[in-house]
Amino acid sequence: MGNALSQIGMSVVAGVLFLMHIISFGDFAVASSFAFTIFSAIWDITNALTKVKSTKKLREQTAELRKKMANTDLNKTDAYSVTVSGLKAKYKEGEDISYPDFTIKKGQKVLLVGDSGTGKSTLFKILLGKLKPEAGQVAFFDKNGQALSLDKAKVGYLPQDPIVFPASIKDNIVMFNDKLTNKLNEITQAVQLQPDLAKMPAGIDTEVDLKKENLSGGQRQKVVLARSEIYEQPFVLMDEVTSAIDQTATERIIDQLLQTDQTILLIAHNFTPELQAKFDQIIQLKSKKEGTEK
Ligand SMILES: Nc1ncnc2c1ncn2[C@@H]1O[C@H](COP(=O)(O)OP(=O)(O)OP(=O)(O)O)[C@@H](O)[C@H]1O
Ligand SMILES: [Mg+2]
Repeated sequence: MGNALSQIGMSVVAGVLFLMHIISFGDFAVASSFAFTIFSAIWDITNALTKVKSTKKLREQTAELRKKMANTDLNKTDAYSVTVSGLKAKYKEGEDISYPDFTIKKGQKVLLVGDSGTGKSTLFKILLGKLKPEAGQVAFFDKNGQALSLDKAKVGYLPQDPIVFPASIKDNIVMFNDKLTNKLNEITQAVQLQPDLAKMPAGIDTEVDLKKENLSGGQRQKVVLARSEIYEQPFVLMDEVTSAIDQTATERIIDQLLQTDQTILLIAHNFTPELQAKFDQIIQLKSKKEGTEK
């Protein structure tokens, strides 16, 4: 029984590795909750396997998963900059959300601010191609300044709720790519994770337990930030990624992010004026009642 279980454990890991070699896991590890879907699916498959003791279902589900993955980032090109004009969004039941025009140049660090419900996360959905704009244009550009249409542009994304997997903290950061292990020290330092790791008996090898929630909200955010930074995505949208991290660590993390070559659009509440002033640009969203002027 023990042996059977450890074999199932191995098949999970093998499954993950297998799927990762089909497409570059790093490309979408930070891109969406899609990666989580894959992990959940592998879990479901493994459970099904133990119950049914048949590989037919496994093969069918794997095939299904591969089909879904074919539609992801494979044919996309890294975006480095973006220009937005006349942009409006609308949900079925909701009112119009109008956005100010803006350009984010390659390597710029831009802060996106505005009260709750002003449409910050919605702007990310549009930039990620998940929500069709009601009006206006979004133009991305590649490394050489060539235009990229919305559906061809690859942009990294850290959602408001950090997504971690039932694996070690190390694997949550490198996403099973051992070639990146040599950067772990530098990265965990940059995202201020080292003091947290020092408190854990197994340190970076601590297994993330989704049921017990053995990582705090801030620690999860640091892990996800480390994942994003270790993969050096050229353009990343970050949705309140430091909201559960204390002020001092937040300032240090932002200082580190500001030193990278990445283009970053970051949503954040409650940054001090001093911290805000470090950004290249601030995009302010306002609710309709207040008007949409900057
Ligand atoms: N899936 C949805 N369907 C309908 N309306 C939505 C949906 N998502 C958001 N909205 C509405 O659109 C508006 C903008 O929401 P959005 O999530 O972009 O705000 P936000 O600026 O990110 O807020 P917060 O700071 O609270 O995260 C809100 O009025 C919200 O109720
Ligand atoms: Mg939001």
